[in-house]
Amino acid sequence: MGEAHSDSVNRPDEWKIEQGINGAKLPFLDQTGEETVKIQPKVWDALTKDQAAIDSVGNRDELFKRELDGWEGYVEWEKYPEKKAKAHKLLTSQTFPPNPEYQMGPIPDTNPVLEGADYKAWHAAIGGELTTASDDSWATVLKEKHPDMLHLLQFPYNGEPPKRLVTSKPVTPNSLHFVRNHGGIPIIEKEKWSLDLDGLVANPKKYTLDELMDESRFPQMEKLVTMQCSGTRRIEQISLYAGQGDEVPQAPWAEGAIGTAHYKGISLKKLIKDCGGLINGAKHLEFYGPDTYFKAEQAMNYVVSVPWSKVKANEVILAWEMNGEPLPKIHGYPLRVVVLGYIGARSVKWLYRIKAIENPTMAPVQSKEYLYFNQQVGKHNQRPTDGIQIQEMPVSSAIMSPWNKQVVIHNGSIKCKGWAYSGGGRWPERVELSADGGFSWYAVPNDQMSKKHKWTWRTWEIDLPCDVEGWIEIVCRCWDNSLNTQPLTVRAAWNWGLHVTSSAHRIAVYSVNKTRQITRDRLAKFEETGAVLAPLTCPEHFETQSQEDYKKFWEENDPRDVDD
Ligand code: MTE
Repeated sequence: MGEAHSDSVNRPDEWKIEQGINGAKLPFLDQTGEETVKIQPKVWDALTKDQAAIDSVGNRDELFKRELDGWEGYVEWEKYPEKKAKAHKLLTSQTFPPNPEYQMGPIPDTNPVLEGADYKAWHAAIGGELTTASDDSWATVLKEKHPDMLHLLQFPYNGEPPKRLVTSKPVTPNSLHFVRNHGGIPIIEKEKWSLDLDGLVANPKKYTLDELMDESRFPQMEKLVTMQCSGTRRIEQISLYAGQGDEVPQAPWAEGAIGTAHYKGISLKKLIKDCGGLINGAKHLEFYGPDTYFKAEQAMNYVVSVPWSKVKANEVILAWEMNGEPLPKIHGYPLRVVVLGYIGARSVKWLYRIKAIENPTMAPVQSKEYLYFNQQVGKHNQRPTDGIQIQEMPVSSAIMSPWNKQVVIHNGSIKCKGWAYSGGGRWPERVELSADGGFSWYAVPNDQMSKKHKWTWRTWEIDLPCDVEGWIEIVCRCWDNSLNTQPLTVRAAWNWGLHVTSSAHRIAVYSVNKTRQITRDRLAKFEETGAVLAPLTCPEHFETQSQEDYKKFWEENDPRDVDD
């Protein structure tokens, strides 16, 4: 029995394991039999490779070559089941490094936070056009994104702006807009690009970008839109209870997986009309992205769908411009879908095909990911049909300043900033903050909220009254125009997929209220003696009360113990 499997010998980090600080190392307790049985966490064996099986698949450069000239990084999977089968064989003929533990163990303090070792390895194992996908993706990140981005996952690239930049402007600059990828970043030449519209439409057609941009054929539309990933604020769920642990669907996002931009394009409804409309009971539109996504040892393109009712309402844009510029490559150049008020996952980037279908797509991104489970559903029992497919985003908000565990010295009110958003065409009507854990609430004054728009967030600022000293809990919640509001605790929102952390945002802040004389004097004393004020936990080395004061107190007050 190896050291890692022992339960009779202490490990060096035994105390941490016992305290749940390294929970991934805890054995499961199976109490179903007469004796309790311990199921130890898996210790990963050396990686294996069945070279003969791999070789039997054939020439990978030929099999998995670029689908179309001018479409770097595009491998087509959906049209070629035999190619998918070969990729599956490659992925099952060898083993890959396990996902690093980041939920029940320490999260790395690096940027990128996580590397994405398994996704890199899967792309390399397929080879061909995917051989350089991870290096190329990172090169595009460095070229297009702000140097201060927080890279949660290097590959597939997932990154968000730091808190100080999330709401610094009501419209997010392109370089600071969060990025959520499931695969590489295809680099597509505009002149070589085209879009297929097929499936259950009267006249299937192919369009060039110039045709889509021809105003004499299609009226253009421009909208200010907030895009939100259902993973926004996931770290709050993770830090309470772990959930599904695949780094890509479950990246540890903070409050920055939300951004607001002006998009320009055309309504998809017009294009459907141009194809003669839907036929034979079509009710959904399937969108195809050329990047490669992996799920359960299968390679596939990024495919999702939205209902026709959403398209019919002119709420699905095919966009080529973001904040007055051509879409950045990382955000879907040359054309992406923007679905107003829905989860970001439906806004397919680098769009190359739209297919009219009868029912919501069976593709795994739609049918097996982005599901909102109830709390009793997890690894031990979950089925995709137990989850609600996330479409319209609920009302949510977040505090961008101050930060959790921060000490704030103030004159009776704490300056707070943040965002609030509601999906489905609703908008934040009121934002409220509490400095006492959610007992009493103060509304953000109207003139301290950014302008209302139907499909966008509002940024806000407030001087939050706070008399209390020491640790307090600041809570933020939003009421949208339908008077929907947020559940008050993360526990109430927790789910196995760790999606939609829409509970009221709570941060612990240590309040130092300088309106009090004793606090003013103490701060002056730190200054005068040069004693260490920050960090909070650093002990002070001066006397906090003079002997005379101390004595005087006991002369004027009853003694600690009573004589009887
Ligand atoms: N489209 C493709 N082709 N591939 C993807 O991985 N990610 C989706 C969506 N569109 C994705 C995609 C998800 S989950 C989100 S939240 C949004 O893109 C994010 O858009 P952004 O990266 O432009 O912010």
